[in-house]
Parts: sequence; structure tokens; C-alpha cells
Amino acid sequence: MIREVLRMGDSRLLAVSRKVETFASPELLALIEDMRDTMAHLDGAGLAAPQIGVLQRVVIFGVSVNPRYPDAEDVPETVLINPVIETLGKELEEGWEGCLSVPGLRGLVPRFLRLRYRGMDQFGATIDRSVEGFHARVVQHECDHLDGILYPMRMTDMSKLGFTDVLFPGRQDSED
Ligand code: NI
Repeated sequence: MIREVLRMGDSRLLAVSRKVETFASPELLALIEDMRDTMAHLDGAGLAAPQIGVLQRVVIFGVSVNPRYPDAEDVPETVLINPVIETLGKELEEGWEGCLSVPGLRGLVPRFLRLRYRGMDQFGATIDRSVEGFHARVVQHECDHLDGILYPMRMTDMSKLGFTDVLFPGRQDSED
């Protein structure tokens, strides 16, 4: 079921979400199905449960030739629960980000270039990956949602926040 995505200004987006304790439950599987439906409907690269008002540490992401991110590398379709991020090195990289909770805008955000992330999938199987670049960016963006952090809060130069169609005229993006 496609759910309403909360927009910046809603206090639920600033909350710290709770860990998932029970895996493979009907409730968890239904949540993930709703998140997938919602992300696909809005053509997003990722979605965190708090964005649909569920304050649990669940994110999904995945990119394969997404018109919103025409230059992005492929990122495998992933369900990541109770994630733990360990940065690998201190190197930062700036990149443009959007967010389904901040429709119509893009901002330039510094993120760690490389990281290791661990967590579980919806059935409780372990995920443990070391990644870099866009994949690492997506993970940092989505996991930030679980701690109530939206990408503008990570920006260091607010002159690099703008409307997508003004920043990137002619690009065939969706409206957000
Ligand atoms: Ni987001």
C-alpha cells in the first residue's frame, strides 16, 4: 500500500527511532511492503520507516537506472534493519542529494566516502558490506533518518540548496 510520506517540518522526522526486536513478523513484512510500494511510486532511491510515520530502525534502498539519479551507480535492492555504520577513513565527498521528505529541492552534502555497514534484513539474516561512493551516500542518508537527521542538517554551505528544476534545467527528473 502506498503511504503518505511526511515532509520536513513534521516532528516525527526529527525523532530517534526504536530498534526492531522481532523479525519476519507479519507487521514487519507489511511495513516493508508498504515502504517498497511508496518508494517505487515516488521513484525514490531509498526510504526510511519514519518517513511514513513508523518510528522503527528500518530502511530500504536500491538504485538501478533511476531517472532521479541519472549519474548514479547501481546500488542493490536492500532492506536494512538496526543498521550500524562504521566509517572507513575520514575522506569526505560532496554530492547532490534529494529526499522524498524535502520535495522539489536538492542540496550539496558532504558524506564519508567509504564505510562498512552492518544490520539485518527482514528475516533476521546478517548484512555486512563495505562500500563507497554513491552506495555509501545512500546508506548515510537513509540511516540519518533513523536518528532524526535530514540532509539539509548535514549541509555546510546553504548556498548549495536549491530547487531541482532551477539547479538542473532540462534534466528529466520527477517533481521531487
Ligand atoms: Ni531522505
